[in-house]
Amino acid sequence: MDVSYPIRPVGNAELPAFGQVSDHAFNSSIAPAKMLEFDLLVIEPERTLVAFDGDRAVGTTLAFSFGLTVPGGDAVGAAGISGVSVLPTHRRRGILSALMRRQLADIAAGSEPVAALFASESAIYGRYGYGAAADQHAFTFNRGDGRLRPLPARAGHPAETPTLRLAEPKSAVAEMKAVYEAVRPTRPGMLTRHDGWWESSVADPESLRQGNSPLRCVIAEDQSGPRGYALYAAKPDWGRDGMPAQVLFVRELFWTDPSAAAALWADLLSRDLVTEVRTRMRPADDPIQHLLADPRRTRTRVSDGLWIRIIDLPEAMARRRYSCSVDLVIEVADSLLPANEGRWRLVAGGLADDSKPACERTSADADITLPVAALGAAYLGGTRLGGLQAAGQVAEHRPGALAELSAAMWWDPAPWSPMMF
Ligand SMILES: CC(C)(COP(=O)(O)OP(=O)(O)OC[C@H]1O[C@@H](n2cnc3c(N)ncnc32)[C@H](O)[C@@H]1OP(=O)(O)O)[C@@H](O)C(=O)NCCC(=O)NCCS
Repeated sequence: MDVSYPIRPVGNAELPAFGQVSDHAFNSSIAPAKMLEFDLLVIEPERTLVAFDGDRAVGTTLAFSFGLTVPGGDAVGAAGISGVSVLPTHRRRGILSALMRRQLADIAAGSEPVAALFASESAIYGRYGYGAAADQHAFTFNRGDGRLRPLPARAGHPAETPTLRLAEPKSAVAEMKAVYEAVRPTRPGMLTRHDGWWESSVADPESLRQGNSPLRCVIAEDQSGPRGYALYAAKPDWGRDGMPAQVLFVRELFWTDPSAAAALWADLLSRDLVTEVRTRMRPADDPIQHLLADPRRTRTRVSDGLWIRIIDLPEAMARRRYSCSVDLVIEVADSLLPANEGRWRLVAGGLADDSKPACERTSADADITLPVAALGAAYLGGTRLGGLQAAGQVAEHRPGALAELSAAMWWDPAPWSPMMF
């Protein structure tokens, strides 16, 4: 059903009305004034969209302007979609679809070649051309399960084990930024973080702690500077029988070398009084899985992380690098952004080739047919196309073409988008 609810951006003065829709839709427990305080750190009012029923806001979405690391290290412009909500009284009338169509058209009229989002539910966004592109892992470690193997001496990491220093997060932003910026170009999926995002990532009001300790930071460093950090909080619990039973939540953990990763994990997984360590939004290739002496004891849950929507297909495909050389024709279906539809010849060298990949229209026969959502899923190098073919979403017309494209798009390290927005 198409809807006749007018849609327009709102200014700062109308952000409380935007917030009310989200509060109802997400069943938020955060006080609206506190939420607005956080929102104002990062929201770009001109990139909001609100659907109105009369003068009442009933549907919302917004976009953040990010740089998204793609395979090869380039940071491409990415619209980070968030704040998607429709009032419970107005659901299933097509308001989300109307907002998505308008938002995609707005982004396509600008210069960002991709859009990205985290989905509250994984059934929602495929229909708008988004594909799940960066799986993430949640780990739970019981006490005693976090014993690490010794690092081999020859693994190309600085021999020196870093020193660990506890710091108050708000006063350690410079060190955290240095680590984050060292990691960002190396990991597809990571996003630029401006000062507002840093402020919001270390914001720690007591009203939102839910009984946890204040947010704390441990920095791994040596005389050359910071080599890693973790942000964490713990829930103090002395147990009913006098046995301490604290849970430690690791909110962020970044490392620049294996010794720093090992030192941070070893510290957090062996803290006194803690019986359980939990962390989520970890990369699919998190080194902790190889550092542990007995990795099977970890409880792991895999879920979809960042979703990617290709907005400008030739630009997006030419801005990333490919793991091996490839020359084939893909036929793409995209009913919402028809400029992406049709046949494209992708020509790219492998890792040793410095020339820019090319993706140009062609009338040649297609080697592979796929929907734009499948291309989005594979874009950051973490989704094998064979699985999508087995599920009937991708079709191969020349034997071997699918394996060629899949191998070329696959990337090491795995995509990881650790910043929720
Ligand atoms: C998700 C939400 C925005 C959908 O809004 P809506 O206006 O009801 O969606 P629409 O009526 O435009 O539905 C469009 C399509 O999506 C489907 N859909 C909508 N929400 C869905 C959900 N949560 N799960 C699965 N399918 C969903 C509809 O069935 C419809 O399918 P169709 O195209 O086959 O007819 C709304 O239900 C909501 O605010 N949910 C709570 C907050 C939330 O989860 N937001 C998303 C944050 S990432």
